[in-house]
Order: sequence, then C-alpha cells, then structure tokens
Amino acid sequence: MTTSTSDPNWWRQAVVYQVYPRSFADANADGIGDLAGVLSRVDYLSDLGVDAVWLSPFYPSALADGGYDVDDYCDVDPKLGTLADFDAMVAALHEAGIKVIVDIVPNHTSDRHAWFREALASEPGSAARDRYIFRDGKGPDGSLPPSDWESNFGGPAWQRVPDEPGAGDDRPAQWYLHLFAPEQPDLNWDNRQVRDDFLEILRFWGDRGVDGFRVDVAHGLAKDLTEPLATLGDLAEHAVDLTLSGKHPIWDRDDVHDIYREWRKVFDEYDPPLAAVAEAWVLPSRRGRYASPEGLGQAFNFDLLEAEWSAEGFRTIITRNLDEVAETGTSSTWVLSNHDVVRHPSRYGLGGDRDRCDAWLLDGGSRDEVDLERGLRRARAATMLILALPGSTYLYQGEELGLHEVGDIPDAERQDPTWQRSGHTRKGRDGARVPLPWTQAGPSYGFGEGGAHLPQPDWFGPVSVEAERDDPDSTLSLYREALRLRRALQTDEQLTWLADYPESVVAFSRPGGWQSVTNMGSDPVALPEGEPLLASGPLEGGFVPPDTTAWVHRPAG
Ligand code: GLC
Ligand code: CA
Repeated sequence: MTTSTSDPNWWRQAVVYQVYPRSFADANADGIGDLAGVLSRVDYLSDLGVDAVWLSPFYPSALADGGYDVDDYCDVDPKLGTLADFDAMVAALHEAGIKVIVDIVPNHTSDRHAWFREALASEPGSAARDRYIFRDGKGPDGSLPPSDWESNFGGPAWQRVPDEPGAGDDRPAQWYLHLFAPEQPDLNWDNRQVRDDFLEILRFWGDRGVDGFRVDVAHGLAKDLTEPLATLGDLAEHAVDLTLSGKHPIWDRDDVHDIYREWRKVFDEYDPPLAAVAEAWVLPSRRGRYASPEGLGQAFNFDLLEAEWSAEGFRTIITRNLDEVAETGTSSTWVLSNHDVVRHPSRYGLGGDRDRCDAWLLDGGSRDEVDLERGLRRARAATMLILALPGSTYLYQGEELGLHEVGDIPDAERQDPTWQRSGHTRKGRDGARVPLPWTQAGPSYGFGEGGAHLPQPDWFGPVSVEAERDDPDSTLSLYREALRLRRALQTDEQLTWLADYPESVVAFSRPGGWQSVTNMGSDPVALPEGEPLLASGPLEGGFVPPDTTAWVHRPAG
C-alpha cells in the first residue's frame, strides 16, 4: 500500500521495524550501537521494505534497564550520539520514505533525572517530591515499606531514601515507589506539572519531525494511592473486579485515559497528526480504550506472542482482535517478537509457551534443547501469516534473519536487572538483545570494530546479513519478498476465512484475490488454486507441508 507523506492513516497498515539502538549497529567502535549506526543502515531498512522504524530509548541513561531509565527526555545519550545525529538519521529515514516512531517512557524517570534529584534534595511534602510517589514508612521508625507491593523485576517496589535533607535524625527517611527497578522511580501523574512537562516533551519530538510514539507501560501511569494502601493479598482477592471495573489502584485504571486525551490534542497539532501505540498489558476487552481515536489511537496486542502453536488458538485470537478494532475504529497490531521476550523461532522450537522459555533459560539456555529447525520453520510460517492479516505488523530487529534467542549468555555478562532482582530466578531478556550480525566473520560480525556489549555466539556467521543477503532461501530473502508483495496487496479491508480446510489450518482470503494458508497440522494440505506467490518453506507439489504458510493470488471470476 502506498502512503503519501501527509496521509493521516499511514500507521494503520504499516510494517514497523523495531530498532533496539544499542544492539543494532555501532559506528564509532565503542561496542555500543548508536544513531550513526542506524543512519549507516538506512539502505538496508529501505531494501527490506519497512514503512516505519520504532526506536527503543536512545535518551541519556545509566542503562539500569537498557535505556528505559531515562535521565533526560529531550536529549540523546552521548554514548549514542547527539541531537544533530538524531536529526540526520530522521532526515535519511524520511528521505527513504520511512517514518520514525520514538519510545516515550512516562511511567517513571531514572533516579538520575533532574526532577528526581531535586525531589531527593527537597523536604517531604515539597512540590519537588510531589512529582514522584513518596510515602512515610511503616513501623515506629518508618523502617518498613509503605506496602508489600513487589516490583515487576522482583523484590520490593519501595526504596528508602538514604537520608532526609536538613532533618537531622529526627525525621524518619521516606520511601519512594518504583514498579520496575529502584533506578526507575514512578512519576505521580496526579501532579499537574508532570502532565504539562510531558505535553512539552511530546512537542519537542513532534517539532523535530518524528511521526509518532510508542508509549511504554501505558497502563501504569494513573494510580490511586489513597491510604490505607491495599495489600497484595487484598489486590489478589479482588483482582477480577478491580480489573474489570477500571479501579485497580495501580494498573489499567479508567482515569489513565484523561492523560491520553490531553496527549491526543497535542498529536492533532501536527499535520498529519502524530501517531501513537500503547504498550499496555491489559485484558483484551480493555485494550480498545487505549486505541481509541480520542486517545493514543493504537495499542499492541500481544496475544499471538503469547499463543501456542495451534490453528484454533490463532483463529480465535485473530477473530477477536479484528472484532475489537472494528469497534474501536483503530487497526490491529500483530507482534511475534520484541526486546522483552524470547525470540519466536526459539519459542516455537521449545514448544510454544513463555513459561517453558523461562524455564529453559534458567536451565542454561542450551541450543541442544531447542528444535532449531522446526522453530525456524514455524517462525517463518507465523510471520507470513501475520503479514497477510489486516492491520499493522511490528517486527523486531534480527527476526528478519531468523535469529534464535542467545540462551546461554554467561550469568556474569547479563545486563537485564531482572536477573539480579529476581534473586537469580529469572534470567531476563538479554538473549534477544545481542548485537546483530552483519557479516559472516570479522570483529563482532560487522556490528562494529570495537566488540559487542553482549557476547555474540559462534553460530552468528551463517545467520548474518552478509550470509543471507543473496541466498534466495534465506529468512532475509523471505521477509524482503513478503514485504514487497504485501506492499502491493495490503488494504484495510477485513479477511474472509476459507472453508474446506481442516481445523488445523489457518486459511483466509483478502480483497483482490490474495489468499494465505498456514498449515499447523501434521499432514500436507492442498495449495489453493491460483498463482503461487510465496511460501515460507518448500512446497510439496501442489501441497502445503506442515509448519508452512503459502500465499496464492486468485483473481475473482
Ligand atoms: C516496558 C519495556 C521494557 C521495560 C519496562 C520498564 O515493558 O518494553 O523493556 O523494562 O517497560 O520501562
Ligand atoms: Ca557506538
């Protein structure tokens, strides 16, 4: 589908490629990917055929959480470049017809942000403290946390302030809330100044020419922290009611949407309006609120990323999502991988579910335990399936090479705070964040001249860009060809399920005679009549073998 630069709907059917900047390409040989590295690969992205790039955070950061701990929302991490590098990168991407989405992290700042430093240096009850969520501790000397809440990375969600300014020993030090790492204090979104500052941050990037935002932890901003704070036990007991009524004290509250209605007004100051997609891990029935046209406009659906390999499961998810978006007036978002989960070839090669992936990592993450070949076959089939669906597709860097998870990173080299904070019970997400292989050999497989900040495995050469570029059977060639075909075939119209296929097959047609058949069963099925366009693996005569998707063009009449 061709989009003009001023098309306000460009995001609806877009293929968006997620760049995790620190692990994409390193232009200045310091072992960390940077914006000049992205600039140097614009041709690659353009050749691949993506419509937009989403950049994970590139802001100044101590990297306590891979950059999701932001020191300053209006600057570039000096390790990654400068604002001038950012402008040059955006100009080159736009020149190539590629839109730019940046990650915005509004639930928390880093503990090095000027606002937080000022809060620490100010007294309890001060305006500076009110930007965050500070509370007195419990117990006679305030030495117990205000509640028993746990951080998403493990351990308590409250951290005690080292000491109170100007209070001597009289006043017990307060605690602050961090739903993620202690280096990520949660902002208080009841504070008008916080709201206004973010409206300005959105304008800062809008004025610099970005086309949209990916909103981190979009379901966490609004909180109800009236005392007494509920205990985890209370919350668990009333979880269903609280969640369904939008009154959970922390997650997915109805009043979070007041914030996004204000954001929408800022988005609409631009022509075309800025786009946004919510990262909101919420019940499917509540997702539409984030995707509403008065709100962020689009929301990730992680349902397929969490689904096992089952045609019935896939069909149910697809139908439900298409119904949901039709109600909301948005478009679907299909995702199989991102920087937070085990890469989908490994997930499928391990049998499908996320718990199994976590257990595998904990067990050492050995390649011997993954059915590498079947995993990749299924991953290629699943990717072609989602690319044939109505809606936008989000791809994660490296999946176009068919990369498996790097499961066996030595513990001492792990960077994800999850590993430490979970008391070594969850390995974390580093295995999906290993710097990309661009060449078959050479320093850090062409990532840069200066090594890689996470160790690259010795199986990277044959899955490098250089090895795959000219191989017609490679995963890179498959993605390139699938994106090329999709560009011509994609419309915003819905799908029609094809009858006459066994339960274990996901088969549908799209307007214009585009048909997609994914065989998730164990016997070959007949290829639909028409002109074969592309298949995710070798076809057997007129048959689609198991774990394979085929696209066929069958003109009407
Ligand atoms: C989101 C990000 C994840 C990060 C977390 C806290 O879930 O995708 O990487 O750790 O938010 O910012
Ligand atoms: Ca660098």
